[in-house]
Amino acid sequence: MNLEKNFKNKKVIVTGHTGFKGSWLTLSLKNLGAKVLGISKNIPTKPSNYLASKIDRETKSLRADVKDLDKLRKIIKKFKPDFIFHLAAQSLVSISYENPKETWETNLLGTLNILEILKDIERNTVVVIITSDKAYKNVEKKKGYKETDVLAGIDPYSASKSSTEIAIKSYFDCFLRNKKNIKLGVARAGNVIGGGDWSKNRLIPDCVRSWSKNKTAKIRNPHSTRPWQHVLEAVWAYILFASKLKSIKKLNGQAFNFGPNNRKNYSVIELLVSMKKNWNNVKYLIKKSKKFKESNLLKLNCNKAKKHLGWENILKFDENIKLTAEWYQFFYSNKNKIKDLSLMQIENYKKKFMKNI
Ligand SMILES: NC(=O)c1ccc[n+]([C@@H]2O[C@H](COP(=O)([O-])OP(=O)(O)OC[C@H]3O[C@@H](n4cnc5c(N)ncnc54)[C@H](O)[C@@H]3O)[C@@H](O)[C@H]2O)c1
Repeated sequence: MNLEKNFKNKKVIVTGHTGFKGSWLTLSLKNLGAKVLGISKNIPTKPSNYLASKIDRETKSLRADVKDLDKLRKIIKKFKPDFIFHLAAQSLVSISYENPKETWETNLLGTLNILEILKDIERNTVVVIITSDKAYKNVEKKKGYKETDVLAGIDPYSASKSSTEIAIKSYFDCFLRNKKNIKLGVARAGNVIGGGDWSKNRLIPDCVRSWSKNKTAKIRNPHSTRPWQHVLEAVWAYILFASKLKSIKKLNGQAFNFGPNNRKNYSVIELLVSMKKNWNNVKYLIKKSKKFKESNLLKLNCNKAKKHLGWENILKFDENIKLTAEWYQFFYSNKNKIKDLSLMQIENYKKKFMKNI
């Protein structure tokens, strides 16, 4: 698959491009020669990868709320994208308990607006909508959730993502399936780590905030396991998925899990032990908290992505941690040059990725 050919000079919209994943996706698409237009409501964190990697200087950006159908429609109509990656969301479980209605509206209505607009688009457009592994009904399944498993999140964030999936399926079946110019896919990725995330109440950002000041990080749930993967693994999975959606008819309307296919599931404590090997500042103490309910075990079965897209994680667990630690350490000692490191991490990852697909 020649990703460069598929994306060079193509017009690509990334919603949520100022966020953690969106910023890495934008840089990766630009690496492939795409013309990216980013749409976001704000820059969600301070610092941010978006500003640190100077994406604001080289990418066309528009400030818009995905809840605003008319504005979104005008932007999309004018830009005439070949690809749309819809990532904009209220992405945090903790905030979803504080602002459930806003979470539902952003995640569900924001996606409904994209779907409404797709109904009327007349040119060829490939669309990948990003939901989450948390969309699955969590029954602490040891073997990992398959794409056919029940979607029924409990907390407002997870539930908003599950219902978003119902909306996507309904629009696809009723309006988009027979629209030959639209190719639509859904991506459910697991927890993502990597440099440039400063979100609230996420493990690595919380720790990094402490370690950057040489302080001890407090750990809530040391034995929780997550399908950790590096942000570049998820981002390049989305790119590959979009590329294949364009040409492989049977992928249209399908959802895919993207996560590590580890036999072993890594816990928070194992992640911290690996981090300590890469960063002298790493210090933590366990402080259990019942502030909000989070699942202990979340695992994805990613056989479908391997079979139909030829995709699987290519970085080992320790490599994910090394890349992450390297980025933050560099940021805190050499902020002005972090863009170079981000671009280098992308280039190195791309080389490995291309060999694998
Ligand atoms: N980070 C993870 O581990 C993870 C895991 C699974 C799924 N996801 C999903 O991936 C996507 C990106 O996650 P992230 O971690 O980069 O999130 P993030 O919080 O870092 O960024 C969110 C982005 O969405 C934008 N946004 C929020 N509300 C908006 C609105 N009303 N209108 C327009 N833009 C709005 C923000 O400005 C920002 O650009 C989200 O859909 C999230 O649910 C993330």
